[in-house]
Amino acid sequence: MRIDVVSIFPDYLAPLGLSLVGKAQTSGLLDIHVHDLRTWTRDRHHTIDDTPYGGGAGMVMKPEPWGEALDEIITLSGDTAAPQASADPAPGPVLVVTTPSGAPLTQPLAQQLAARSWLVVACGRYEGIDQRVIDHARTRMEVREVSIGDYVVSGGEVAALVLIEAVVRLLPGFMGNPDSLAEESHVRSALLEYPVYTKPPTWRGHEVPAVLLSGNHAKIADWRQEQARRRTAERRPDLLHPSQQVAPDNLGREAVIAPAELADAPEIWTLQRACWLQVAQTNVTLDLTPLTETLDDVRLSLRQWRTYVIRTHGRLVGSVRARLAEERWEIGRIMVAPDLQGRGLGRCLLDFAEELAPEEARSFAVLADSGGDENTRWYRKAGYRRAGPAGEPGALRFVKGRR
Ligand code: 6GU
Repeated sequence: MRIDVVSIFPDYLAPLGLSLVGKAQTSGLLDIHVHDLRTWTRDRHHTIDDTPYGGGAGMVMKPEPWGEALDEIITLSGDTAAPQASADPAPGPVLVVTTPSGAPLTQPLAQQLAARSWLVVACGRYEGIDQRVIDHARTRMEVREVSIGDYVVSGGEVAALVLIEAVVRLLPGFMGNPDSLAEESHVRSALLEYPVYTKPPTWRGHEVPAVLLSGNHAKIADWRQEQARRRTAERRPDLLHPSQQVAPDNLGREAVIAPAELADAPEIWTLQRACWLQVAQTNVTLDLTPLTETLDDVRLSLRQWRTYVIRTHGRLVGSVRARLAEERWEIGRIMVAPDLQGRGLGRCLLDFAEELAPEEARSFAVLADSGGDENTRWYRKAGYRRAGPAGEPGALRFVKGRR
C-alpha cells in the first residue's frame, strides 16, 4: 500500500517511522510519503490560511496550495504507486480528509481503506479546508471526510496517525498473529474485549480469575463472552443489539439506554416527581422520598448509584439505578414517563439493572413504591418476593436470589 500524507507539520508524522508501521515500511509492505503543504505555496510567507467568507472565528485553509498539492501527488505518484492489489475494489487513490466534521472512523471503514492500494491523507488544520478542494477532488477520485471521535484535537495530524495505524495493521502480512485481529473489540462481534491477565497469578493481593487457570476451554470461552457482554452493557450500551439494549418494540429503535450523566439530573428529578405523584395519589400521602428530594439530592445520588436513563428522540423517558450493598445488588427508582407506561419499559429497566450486577452480588433487592397489589404482582412475575420493611416511607422491598 502507498500512503501520501499532506500536512503543514510534516514532523508531526515522524512516529510513522517507529514500531510496527515503521517495520512495515522497511519490509516493503508499506510506502509512506509525507509532504509539506507549504511546498505548494507561491508567496513569500508561504500562506496556507485566510479568513472565512461570511465571517466567524478562526481561519480556513486556502484552496490553491491544496489543489496544486493534490494535482502533483496524484500524477507524480501514479508512476511509483504500489502495484495495485488484485483485490483493490477501485483504481487510483482514495483521498482521506481528516476533519472533526467527518464521518466517524470505524472498524468497517478501516477495513474498506485497507483493501485499497493507495491512500492520500490530507490533514486539516484550523477551521477546515476550503470546501471547494474537496468538491473538486471528488470529480477525480473517491473522497472520505473522516473524524476520529466526538471531540476536537488541534490538528488533523494525530487523526491521520490514528487512521493510518487502524488501516495498516489490517494489511495482509502486517500482523505476526492474524488471530489477534479476529478476537479484538469491534471485530468479531460488536462487543468490547474481555479483560485480560498474565503472570503472576497473584499480584498486590489481586487474583487472576480462577476460571482462567482451570484449563477448561469451554468454561473460559463462556466466561470471556459474559465479561465482554457485561463490559459492553456498562460502557457502550449503544453497541448492543437493540433487543439486548432496551428498545421494547413499541418504543421503536430510537430508544437508547445510557449511563446517566450529571447533566441528566434535572430531567431525572422532573420524571421522578411526575412518576411518584401517581404513587402519592394511590397512597394518599406526599411523604415519599422521591417527591421530597431536591435537585441536589438527585445530583448526589448520581454519584452514589450507577444510574441509567432511557431516551427516545432525545427525551428522557425512563431511569433506573443500582448499587452493591455487601452481597446484595440494590435496584431502585425504576421510573417510566407516565404517558409511556404499560409497554414493558419498566421491565426492560429492571432486566437491564439485573444484568449489570457484578459477580459478587448474591441477590437482588428492589426498593419499590407500595403501588398496591398490582405492583406486587409485577415484581412477582419478575421472580421477586416481598421482604421486610423498606426503611423509606411508602416503599416496599422485594428480593430474589441470583441464579
Ligand atoms: Cl479528524 N481532526 C481534528 N482536528 N479533530 C478531530 C478529528 C479530526 N476527529 C475528531 N476530532
